[in-house]
Amino acid sequence: MRVLLFGASGMVGQGVLRECLFDPDVESVLSVGRSTTGQRHEKLRELVHRDLFDLAPIERDLAGFDACFYCLGVSSVGMTDEAYRRVTFDLTVAVAGVLARLSPGMTFIYVSGMGTDGTGQGRVAWARVKGKTENALLRLPFTAAYMFRPAFIQPLHGIRSKTRLYQALYTITRPLLPLLRVTLPHFVTTTEEVGRAMLRVARHGAPGPVLENEAIRHLGSSPVERIPETLSIREGDVVTVSRSEIEGLGVFARRPFSAGQRIRRITVVRQVTPEAPLLEDLGERADHCDYPDGKVVLLRFPDRHLNHSCNHSCDPNAYVLYEADYCYLVARRDICPGDETTCDYNINITGGTAWACHCGAARCRGTTVGDFFRLPLDIQREYRPLLAEWFVRRHAERLAQLP
Ligand SMILES: NC(=O)c1ccc[n+]([C@@H]2O[C@H](COP(=O)([O-])OP(=O)(O)OC[C@H]3O[C@@H](n4cnc5c(N)ncnc54)[C@H](OP(=O)(O)O)[C@@H]3O)[C@@H](O)[C@H]2O)c1
Repeated sequence: MRVLLFGASGMVGQGVLRECLFDPDVESVLSVGRSTTGQRHEKLRELVHRDLFDLAPIERDLAGFDACFYCLGVSSVGMTDEAYRRVTFDLTVAVAGVLARLSPGMTFIYVSGMGTDGTGQGRVAWARVKGKTENALLRLPFTAAYMFRPAFIQPLHGIRSKTRLYQALYTITRPLLPLLRVTLPHFVTTTEEVGRAMLRVARHGAPGPVLENEAIRHLGSSPVERIPETLSIREGDVVTVSRSEIEGLGVFARRPFSAGQRIRRITVVRQVTPEAPLLEDLGERADHCDYPDGKVVLLRFPDRHLNHSCNHSCDPNAYVLYEADYCYLVARRDICPGDETTCDYNINITGGTAWACHCGAARCRGTTVGDFFRLPLDIQREYRPLLAEWFVRRHAERLAQLP
C-alpha cells in the first residue's frame, strides 16, 4: 500500500506515521505538509510545501496512492470562526478535491472528532464546520472515504501534541489515562489505535463511512492482518448496489457484460476464525461471508451483497470463478446495464441451509436446497462446468457418478 499523509508533524499524524512505518504492507509513505516530521526512514519521503491551497507545483508527486490519511487540523480554541473554517473546511476540501482527481482509486480517511455535527446545522461552530467538511469529503469521487471521529486521544511512544493546551492536558491527565480507558471506553483512544484503525480501514474497508471512537478502538486494538487477497474496489464502478426486486440489496451491472466475461474481482476482507471473529457490533454479518474450501471469508462491499440471500437465482446470470488466491464474478450469459447479477447458491456447497426461494426465475424451484447434490440431475449437469476446483477435489467420487 502506498500512503499519502497530511499532518504528519502533528500528534495524530505522528501516531499514524509510526504505525505506517511499522506495517509490512505499507510500501511507502509520502508526508506532505508545511513542516517536516524530523523523522528518517527508508519508507518515508517528505514533501515540504508552504501553501497547501496551491498544490499545482507538486501535483505530479500526488498521483498513484492507495490511501490518504488526512490528519491535518487545528483546535478551534482561540481561533476566529473564519480562520478555523479556512483550515478545517476550505483547505481540507481543496486538497481532497485535487487528490480525488489525481488518485481516484484511493481511500481517503479524514480525522474530524467526536461530537462532529453531521447535519452541519447545529449550534456549536467547530462541530458544524467539521460536519460540513465530512459531508463535502463524502461527496468526492474517491473509491472510499471514511470519517474518523476519535474522542480524547492519548499520545503514546513519546508522541507530543503541537497544541500547547492539549499537551498540558495530556501531561496532567497521563497518570489517570489507564483508568479513564477502562471507565470511559467511548471517550478515550490512543495514537496507536487510531493509526492501526486507519490502516485496517484503508485495507479492508469498514461497515460505514463514519467511525466513532468505539469503532476506532475496536479496529485499532490489534495489528492489521496481512491478507494477500485483499484488494481495493477500483473496479467498483462497473457494478452498483441497490434495492433488489428479489429481496433486500443486490449487485447491479452498470455496463454490459457478455457471456463468459469477468465482471469484477471479488474482494475478501479477511478470513473469519475463532481468533478473528465477525465484529457484529461493526455490522459484519454471517451472510456477508463466503465459504470456499472449508474456510469462512468475509467479503467486502459491494461483493458481500452478492452472497446475501437476496441474490440467489435458480437461473443465474453469473457465477463465481475461483482461481488460485482470487475469485471473480463472471457473466454466465449476456448482462445488460441495470440487470441484477445473480448466482445460484447451490453451486459449490453441501450440507447448507435450505430456505424458500423467491427469485422469480421462470424455472424457480421454490427452494434453495443448500446442497449441489440435492439439485435435480439436469441442473447438476448444467452447473458441473461452473464448479470450483476445490469443490471438485473434495467431492471427486460423487461427481464421477454424475450421469
Ligand atoms: N488530539 C486529539 O485528542 C484529537 C481528538 C479528536 C480529533 N482530533 C483532530 O485531529 C486533527 C489533528 O489533531 P492533532 O492533535 O494532531 O493536532 P496538532 O498536533 O496540532 O497537529 C496539527 C497538524 O496539522 C498541521 N496544520 C495545522 N494547520 C495547518 C495549516 N494551516 N497548513 C498546513 N498544515 C497545518 C500541523 O502542521 P505544522 O506542524 O506545520 O503546524 C500539524 O501537522 C485535528 O483536526 C483535530 O481536531 C484530535
